[in-house]
Amino acid sequence: MPHLPATRAMGESRASMVRLMMPSDANPHGNVHGGVIMKFVDEVAGIVAHRHARRNVVTARLDRMDFLEPVFVGNALTLDARLAYTGRTSMEVMVDIRAENLDTGEVVHTGTAWLTMIALNERGRPVPVPPVVAETEDEKALHELARLRYEARRAERKGAKQ
Ligand SMILES: CC(C)(COP(=O)(O)OP(=O)(O)OC[C@H]1O[C@@H](n2cnc3c(N)ncnc32)[C@H](O)[C@@H]1OP(=O)(O)O)[C@@H](O)C(=O)NCCC(=O)NCCS
Repeated sequence: MPHLPATRAMGESRASMVRLMMPSDANPHGNVHGGVIMKFVDEVAGIVAHRHARRNVVTARLDRMDFLEPVFVGNALTLDARLAYTGRTSMEVMVDIRAENLDTGEVVHTGTAWLTMIALNERGRPVPVPPVVAETEDEKALHELARLRYEARRAERKGAKQ
């Protein structure tokens, strides 16, 4: 395995993805399927988590995701993903999704997704990751929001086990 620093900055693993929405992504009326967008969300979140951990990662959880605005064939979909918080072996990734009408330049925020990714060792078991460090004010706010989500999720899991 590559040598990992004790901590890693949030900005180091940030990733963006741009995809042109094609007819095969949509229903006969040109509305892009939610599942298509969720696949891209999962993919870009996986890149962020893998970049941070430098390990294989899997998705443990994709939180509720609202589709705020429709996405159409011909739109350029941009997904911006950041590693918001690290637990011991888990990573909370936030993905912001925007759709651009390439004819007009209008950009619409179509949703935000939160995912929990887990780093795995060679035997497929969870393995500790370096803590993420928030540097800017914006990153610190995101980190705090994600910490609260992490704590709530842990309490929920604990309750479910009892
Ligand atoms: C994710 C997985 C490795 C967790 O295994 P596990 O035996 O429950 O592991 P642990 O109890 O040691 O938990 C490891 C971490 O995962 C977190 N976790 C486990 N299940 C979770 C869930 N459903 N949602 C959110 N976090 C979860 C734990 O909170 C813990 O985080 P922490 O180390 O930061 O405190 C296991 O459930 C798995 O392999 N799931 C399938 C993942 C996959 O293949 N996804 C792709 C789609 S099928």
